[in-house]
Amino acid sequence: MSALVTQERLVTRINRLKRERDAIILAHNYQVGEIQDVADFLGDSLELSQKAAQTDAKVIVFCGVHFMAETAAVLCPDQTVLLPDLSAGCGMSEMVSAEEVRALKAKHPDALVVCYVNSSAAVKAESDICCTSSNAVNVVRSIPEDRDIIFVPDQYLGDYVTRQTGRKMILFNGYCPTHFRMMTSDVEAAKAQYPEALVLAHPECTPEVSHLADQVLSTSGICLESQKTEKQTVIVATETGILHRLRKENPEKAFVPACNWCDCAHMKVNNLEKLLWSLEEMQYPVEVEPSIRKRAKNAIDRMLEISK
Ligand code: 13P
Ligand code: SF4
Repeated sequence: MSALVTQERLVTRINRLKRERDAIILAHNYQVGEIQDVADFLGDSLELSQKAAQTDAKVIVFCGVHFMAETAAVLCPDQTVLLPDLSAGCGMSEMVSAEEVRALKAKHPDALVVCYVNSSAAVKAESDICCTSSNAVNVVRSIPEDRDIIFVPDQYLGDYVTRQTGRKMILFNGYCPTHFRMMTSDVEAAKAQYPEALVLAHPECTPEVSHLADQVLSTSGICLESQKTEKQTVIVATETGILHRLRKENPEKAFVPACNWCDCAHMKVNNLEKLLWSLEEMQYPVEVEPSIRKRAKNAIDRMLEISK
């Protein structure tokens, strides 16, 4: 049987089971193309949490990484949230623990804690407000000028927000191992080859890489800007999974990855077989302990409130 026929059969079975289970498939922009194509909704972290908060579906199958499914579980305690492969973690979110946030709070008792959504529910529970790459600047702007801010865990997103807002923050030293692999020399080489191209970067890139970009945006921001631009070539400085959506939505434009090896292994563990199995076996449910859930929800709700 050809690979295409196998794929069509898998998609047919996924769609049938999805209806039977009253399930919705949410997928992040970095997922493999086959998953993006079968998803009911594709988006960045903010859009996916907004969608999770709105859906009435009994089952949410989260095609992304663990912290994203956990965020959906925090927002939807009466629905079943499934992650098809539990090894889909996030290198950055694993860099900070709740204990470390508590220690920072003890050191800076008057500071408010802003946590990037790429963190565990336990870390969110220790935080005052959450943010994503698309609303971090607005979240920080919403905090009164006289309050100190602890920002966890992404030092590079934190640095970007400081440059945009002028707010100095106490930065945790986490980072995304995938974006960290991107070198300025990669972006410079792509710019030298395509001097007319628009350069779009994700704020998880190092400041040196972000400085080389025309705009620094969330993954869906990159998709939106790519549609809007009149430039015919776009250099994309983020994880390579996004190229599938960009090329599908803009077949007339050329998309050049700034770095071909910036793959997030966690995002790539998912595939159609695992998604089908997840729906068949209702595996793996992601749940959050009620005491943590309640406090984490406060931080997420505050973020959603200012992102309407
Ligand atoms: P976005 O919210 O921009 O999609 O980013 C999520 C992420 O994990 C990027 O590495
Ligand atoms: Fe985490 Fe980086 Fe992968 Fe995003 S790309 S899920 S921040 S490891």
